[in-house]
Amino acid sequence: MTTTTPFVDLGTEEVLLDVIDCVATLTLNRPAKLNAVTSRMSAAIVHAIGWCDRSDSVRAIVVTGAGDRAFSAGSDIAELDRYATPWDFRNRTDYCDAIRAARTPTIAAVNGYALGGGLETALSCDIRIASSTASFGAPEIKLGWIGGGGMTSFLTRAIGPSNTAYMTMTGDRIDADRALGWHLVSEVTEPSGLISRAWEIAATIASRAPIAAETAKINLRAAYSMSEDKALEYERDLQTICFATEDAAEGRRAFAEKRDPVFRRR
Ligand code: COA
Repeated sequence: MTTTTPFVDLGTEEVLLDVIDCVATLTLNRPAKLNAVTSRMSAAIVHAIGWCDRSDSVRAIVVTGAGDRAFSAGSDIAELDRYATPWDFRNRTDYCDAIRAARTPTIAAVNGYALGGGLETALSCDIRIASSTASFGAPEIKLGWIGGGGMTSFLTRAIGPSNTAYMTMTGDRIDADRALGWHLVSEVTEPSGLISRAWEIAATIASRAPIAAETAKINLRAAYSMSEDKALEYERDLQTICFATEDAAEGRRAFAEKRDPVFRRR
């Protein structure tokens, strides 16, 4: 097993990026403030995701929070007073956009509170798993506003309109069991097993053909942003692109030779 920890200067210690084998772990590291995201952290997240996408060796990204209380309690509320105008606020860097735009597959390991922007961060990842102590909420309504990082769009797709209305209109949290029942997360683990399970899923994705994994991600987005007939056509185009890769030829060869394939992102 090769281990590499890249030197990536993210400009703050409050976001950490580690790479082991082909799996990057992006950790929101501000546990005393429940990993609430400042603008500096937001810039670091954008930088980290860009670094992972540009790295040929990173095949999956696990996103998690430091400490045992929070994944993230959302945007730093104290900092919101510092925007000079609502337009400055409107045009701030959105860390959720960056995570959602990642070419690399992403897995949220939700280890505690996932609130506001924290929930949107999890929703921006491709796969979500949670510890049994996690809770999820859209508490902005309690402060006088609503989420703006994709809360309603992505929550609706995950849990349906009635459950979304419940969360966004009451602001009340739901626990991990209910999140599982509502299909907000794919799995619930014991707290001690969460990160290793997220790494296990990431390692499995990392072992697959990278172009196919990234294309599966593009296809997933197409499935819910295009009309059904266009999405189906697009899926066939994406399938053909994958089919034309050296990795697909290697996959078929390895199958015939009864060995594990060696994929090279070609
Ligand atoms: N922004 C900035 N600071 C935050 C924060 C946020 N979103 N969420 C928590 N914190 C800070 C608290 O101010 C506190 O800091 P302090 O110790 O310097 O006073 C620290 O994190 C711990 O939080 P605390 O409120 O003391 O913990 P708690 O267990 O009593 O309550 C929560 C936990 C999550 C219920 C509560 O912190 C909360 O409601 N946070 C806001 C969540 C939210 O509205 N998010 C959407 C933001 S748009």
